Amino acid sequence: MPNLQGKVALVTGAARGIGAEIARRLAEEGANVAICDLNADWCAETVEALVKLGVKAKAYGVNVADSAQVDQCVKSVLADFGSLDIMVNNAGITKDGLLMRMSDDDWDAVLNVNLKGTFLFTRAVARPMMKQRAGVIINIASVVGIMGNAGQANYTASKGGVIALTKTTAKELGSRNIRCNAVAPGFIQSKMTDVLPEDVRKAYMDTIPLKRFGTARDIANAVAWLSGDDASYVTGQIISVNGGMIG
Ligand SMILES: NC(=O)c1ccc[n+]([C@@H]2O[C@H](COP(=O)([O-])OP(=O)(O)OC[C@H]3O[C@@H](n4cnc5c(N)ncnc54)[C@H](O)[C@@H]3O)[C@@H](O)[C@H]2O)c1
Repeated sequence: MPNLQGKVALVTGAARGIGAEIARRLAEEGANVAICDLNADWCAETVEALVKLGVKAKAYGVNVADSAQVDQCVKSVLADFGSLDIMVNNAGITKDGLLMRMSDDDWDAVLNVNLKGTFLFTRAVARPMMKQRAGVIINIASVVGIMGNAGQANYTASKGGVIALTKTTAKELGSRNIRCNAVAPGFIQSKMTDVLPEDVRKAYMDTIPLKRFGTARDIANAVAWLSGDDASYVTGQIISVNGGMIG
C-alpha cells in the first residue's frame, strides 16, 4: 500500500529539476499532485509523467513571490482537488555575485522568490490545514544556508531564513497537527550545478565524503519520507541530504 494514497500535495517550481522529481516521487506513493511554476505550460512534461503514474495532476502558473497569485493558487487547488495535505516549497533561484558588488535588485529577487515565496505559501496553506487539523509543510533549504558560501550572500541568507522560518512554523502550527520540516540538499546534479566550471566542481567534490553529487531522487526520497506517517513525530527539523558534507 503506497504511503500517501489519497493525499493531495502541492509542489512549487516543479516544471523541472528537483521539484519535478519530488512531484513524481510523491505520485509514486499515491498522492494526487498539484504543481506550479512561473508558466503552467512549462509543466506539461511533469504533468504527463504524474498522470502515467495513475494519480490526478494539474499545473498552475504562479509566481511564488506574488501574494495574490499564491493565495489564488491555493484556492484553486482546494477547489480542484478537495483538500491540501502536503505543501512543498521548492521554487528557488540564484543570482550569485560577491557581496561588495551585489546589486539591490539581485538581493531582492533572490530573497523574494526563495524566502518570501516560502512564507507566502506557508501562510496561504496554514488556514485550510488548521481547519482539517492536519498538514505537512516541507521547505527546500540548502547546505549553504547552514554554512554560508562566498559569492552567494543573497542565496545563503534566503536559505538561512527558510531554515528559521521552518522552525518557527513548526512551533506555531504544531498544536494543530501541522508538521513543518526542511530538507537541506548539498550539491545536486542539476541545471544549477551543471554550469559550474570543472575546477569548482572538483573543489566541491573534495568536500563530499560520499564522493558524488546528489541526485534529485535523493532529495525527493527525503521529502516523501517527511510527507508520510513514518515521520509523524518529526517537526521543526532540518534534514541534511548532502553526502556527509556537514552534519
Ligand atoms: N541544485 C542544487 O544543487 C541545489 C542545492 C541545494 C538546494 N537547491 C534548492 O532546490 C530547489 C530546486 O532547485 P533546482 O536545482 O531543481 O533548480 P531549477 O532551476 O532546475 O528549478 C527551479 C524551478 O523553480 C521555478 N521558479 C523559479 N522562480 C520561480 C517563481 N518566482 N515562481 C515559481 N516558480 C519559480 C523555475 O522555473 C524552475 O522550474 C531550489 O530551492 C534550490 O535552491 C538546489
